Parts: sequence; C-alpha cells; structure tokens
Amino acid sequence: MTTPSDARAWVPDDPTPDSLREALQACRGCELFEDATQAVPWRGSFDARLLLLGEQPGDQEDRQGAPFVGPAGRVLVDALDEAGIDRSDVFVTNTVKHFRWRSGGGKRRIHQSPGRGHVEACKPWLDAELALLRPAGAVLLGGTAGKALYGSTFRVGEARSVLRDWPERYPVSHPPGWVLATIHPAAVLRADAGDRQEAYDGLVSDLRMARESLPPPPG
Ligand code: URA
Ligand code: SF4
Repeated sequence: MTTPSDARAWVPDDPTPDSLREALQACRGCELFEDATQAVPWRGSFDARLLLLGEQPGDQEDRQGAPFVGPAGRVLVDALDEAGIDRSDVFVTNTVKHFRWRSGGGKRRIHQSPGRGHVEACKPWLDAELALLRPAGAVLLGGTAGKALYGSTFRVGEARSVLRDWPERYPVSHPPGWVLATIHPAAVLRADAGDRQEAYDGLVSDLRMARESLPPPPG
C-alpha cells in the first residue's frame, strides 16, 4: 500500500460537528494513527469567541480522547481562569490529532513533536474545523501551531504577545479578527524551577491580552 499523503480522503464533504468527530477516528492520513489509542478531536462550542490551537495530544489526551486534559491542560485551565477567560467561550483543538511518541522504556511514552509532514497531513481536519467556526480571536499555543499558520520561519519567542492578522497564506471563510501567539503551557512545566513562575505569568499575561481584545459577548 502506498502511504497516504494527507487526511483529505477522510474528511467528509459539508461536515457537521458530529460527522467530523466520527470521521476523524477513521483517519489514516499519516502513520501517526498506528501507535496512538485514538484521534483526539476538539473540545468546546463552535460558537466560542476564542479559538485556542495547541500542538498535538499528549499521553493523557491520547487515553482520554479529549484535548488538554493532562498536565499541560491543568496549566492551561489555571492560566485561563487567572486571565478571566470563560472556559465555555473557548474552542480548543490541536494542530495534529494523533499523539506522536517514542518509548521511554517500560510503559513510558515520551512526547515527540510532530514533523512538518504530520502537520501538513493533518491540516484538512483543522481546515474543516475552521470552516465551521467564527471566532473573534485565536491564540496559538506554541511553535507548532505558529508554524502551521505562518510557515516554518515562525518563532514563538519572537512572535508572541502581539496581535497579528490571520495569515493570508491560509484562507478560511471566517478568519478570526486577530491572532495572538504565546508559549505552549507545557513549556511552563519544562522550565527550570526558578523560571517557572515567570513563564506561567507570561502565559497569563498573553491570555489576558486575548481577553481584553475580544468583543463584548453577544446578547
Ligand atoms: N499539548 C497539546 O498541544 N495539546 C494537548 O491536547 C495536550 C498537550
Ligand atoms: Fe489523520 Fe492527523 Fe491522525 Fe495523521 S495525525 S492519521 S492526518 S488525524
């Protein structure tokens, strides 16, 4: 069998959230499904004003089938709360929908960042989600999300903390009014103990900027 090059063959035409969620589990658009438990879809309402884009599921997400439910997810939830962002107003998804990992010996599964090929292969799922969304703003959590939107030269350290336009190279029907890049919450956990608070505070401060940049809630 030839290796499929991307997810397009698995994405339904004119999808609904339900058909998208169901079809995602069958995806064989790249090899990452082989070693993963399941594909991890988005979480949240398609009416949310804020889109949060992560990298890929981690160990816990792979087991539980929902994004940001592991250690990085706890950091994210705390930071969202501290920034005053209502969790019900957030649509969270990942750039790549299957967990990429290598064995750490025994049962340990060590996260491996997805490659550019995986990001490209998986993009039709993100395209389909975006086609159903009308977010006011988008927050990119880390470099993988940033590169998926702005290209391989994107560096989150340089690009974070400023509102930018949705990239022209990525046409979508209802682009968010602004995009804000910030660090990945896992980077807070990876920081040296002495730097962790500062990393976390930076994440909260970026999320606060996102909240302040949202239009008033409808109604
Ligand atoms: N990191 C991510 O980028 N996404 C998740 O869902 C979990 C950890
Ligand atoms: Fe399909 Fe994406 Fe999973 Fe690859 S990572 S199999 S493209 S859902």
